Amino acid sequence: MKIILANSYNELSRKAADIIEELVSSNGNAVLGLATGSTPVGTYRELIKRYLEHSLDFSGVTTFNLDEYIGLRASNHDSYNYFMNYNLFDHININKDNTHVPDGMTNDPRTYGRLYDRMIENAGGIDLQILGIGSNGHVAFNEPAEELNLGTDLVKLSKKTIEDNSRFFESKENVPTEAISMGIGSIMKARRILLLASGEGKAEAIGQVLNSGKVTTWLPASLLLLHPDVTLICDQEAFSLVDRRIMAGAIV
Ligand code: GLP
Repeated sequence: MKIILANSYNELSRKAADIIEELVSSNGNAVLGLATGSTPVGTYRELIKRYLEHSLDFSGVTTFNLDEYIGLRASNHDSYNYFMNYNLFDHININKDNTHVPDGMTNDPRTYGRLYDRMIENAGGIDLQILGIGSNGHVAFNEPAEELNLGTDLVKLSKKTIEDNSRFFESKENVPTEAISMGIGSIMKARRILLLASGEGKAEAIGQVLNSGKVTTWLPASLLLLHPDVTLICDQEAFSLVDRRIMAGAIV
């Protein structure tokens, strides 16, 4: 895992956007894996700015999002479908037909998930997957557990995630308890992964991933250590519990 340290959230967002811009400019038909949550919002804002300022061209780009809450329609303001339109797709020249966010209204997540994974494969696979990290070390909605899904499938949200994400909802009771999420296998197939972590709320998870030298399904983000091309962009707060003696060589 390569590590890029940023001095602020804005710097983190700019550095993430630099990597996305580099890919999209060199491959107009790039396939991006996209994430929701507050962490990538600054990156998306930066991409919109670059589209407006120097016509960064998304017309040939295809996107696949990681996850969606079960029971929320795309038109629901709390859905990740809505989030993506609001925070990115509505403001750039992407062809909406080429953007994909899992359908939270599916009544057969297993079959739907297989179809979603096939769609990713048919698009040529993900060139660059953007990821956030949960405070409990989850990636997408793959929660710490004895076993993790390989492919896109139904997941039950942990108490911690429901608590963390309740800030986006009217109350904790309104947070859906299930989601459809790309599995760890779907994520690990991406050719390159960009993991973003900001703020002290992520320090424990990032510290655990980088310090222990072990991988475990109880810390889903640790499985990313097995991927050959992961770049972590991290601000100082999220990096504060990492043992710098161990990780010094990884910082670029
Ligand atoms: C949600 C998403 C994850 C995201 C995580 C962290 O649970 N499913 O993909 O990484 O939140 O979100 P935030 O960036 O808001 O801390």
